[in-house]
Amino acid sequence: MSTSSSRISGFHNLTMTERLEKVIEVAGLNPDVSDHMGNTGNLAAEVADSMIENAIGTMNIPIGVATNMIVDKQDTLIPMATEESSVVAAVCNAARQCRDSGGFITSMSGSLMIAQVQLVDVPNPEFARLQILEHKAEIKQICDETDPVLLKYGGGFRDVEVRVLEGSHTGAMVITHLIVDTRDAMGANAVNSMAEAVAPLIAKWTGGRTYLRILSNLADRRLARARATWTLDAIGGESVRDGMLAAYEFADIDPYRAATHNKGIMNGVSAVVLATGNDTRAVEAGAHAYAAQTGRYRSLTHWEADQDGNLTGMIEMPMPVGLIGGATKSHPTARIALDIMAVKSADQLARTIAAVGLAQNFSALKALATTGIQKGHMALHAKNIAVMAGAIGAEVETVAKDLVKLGKVRVDIAEDLLNKLRG
Ligand code: MEV
Repeated sequence: MSTSSSRISGFHNLTMTERLEKVIEVAGLNPDVSDHMGNTGNLAAEVADSMIENAIGTMNIPIGVATNMIVDKQDTLIPMATEESSVVAAVCNAARQCRDSGGFITSMSGSLMIAQVQLVDVPNPEFARLQILEHKAEIKQICDETDPVLLKYGGGFRDVEVRVLEGSHTGAMVITHLIVDTRDAMGANAVNSMAEAVAPLIAKWTGGRTYLRILSNLADRRLARARATWTLDAIGGESVRDGMLAAYEFADIDPYRAATHNKGIMNGVSAVVLATGNDTRAVEAGAHAYAAQTGRYRSLTHWEADQDGNLTGMIEMPMPVGLIGGATKSHPTARIALDIMAVKSADQLARTIAAVGLAQNFSALKALATTGIQKGHMALHAKNIAVMAGAIGAEVETVAKDLVKLGKVRVDIAEDLLNKLRG
């Protein structure tokens, strides 16, 4: 490893190529790296450079398309950007097994985002709370003037709520929530600007001091819901169903299991969020905060048997995604992903993503409750290992199959198999 300094003055003023050269020099990399990194694939270098600071290249992640999904009676193809094998296959399998029972039915609580303004140094916080609430009309006016475009599309300020919290160091805090309908935008920029515009007035009205002005990622006014039924025939009978119900209950009562269970859900959710250029971290933060809302970290899905004994699954989680703004607009691949899904609104996108999360969870629970996760995982993982061992073209499939047959998916064994194959 290089011992050069990470203090590179004027780095951000360099062109992307110059930055890359600098990094190669400072990190002591092989100069060949510049060919690899200089190829930005299907994202033009100028676009990448305009998206983030200090860009030196791009990172390609495969996009797979999950088939078989029926969402609200509509056949829908699902583009998924993920580095993990089995994720796309899991959605295809779950969706195939509930096609005959109608696929996924979805709904949404609304497209409301929350921005928070933190007020401190108020000796009479309850009094201040009412002072803020009295100014609802003025707050609405400021918010709506801050984002007239949102207003034009039917969005804008909807409500104000004020909570008093007790900080052990800071003392009483008066927290104002601006509730804003952000329609087809994810809305982070819109609500952050509104919070910044309203904050000085809150300070003036109450005589306190405002600190933070930022959205909440616990977007619990923007819940996407999906449900589906899997017949006993489709899943392979009562014992599979009961195993899956036991797996679900395990997650719902044990945070150690719930973290893994919800991670599986996010395998599906984040892959679509990423493919469509949305903010994976915003959705992930909201999901996990929502999962802990009862005071214990629990499952984002719920599973039950219906009156005929069939397996029913439900998911409900915050889904702050948009169709306009940010990378959804500027990244050409994101635009194509949205075209593949043929979604017409952020609401439809959010609901479809929830259905993908439920599908993902179905497959994970089924695999875990029956053959275990490794069998399916290894078949796809074997291809990765074959490539790592140097296999190319048709060799990949052959070596991967042999690895699975041997039950040993290891690079050293893949290398041996490849050597044999090549004689
Ligand atoms: C692996 O990425 C995801 C699973 O661990 C999810 C789960 O355990 O439910 C298989």
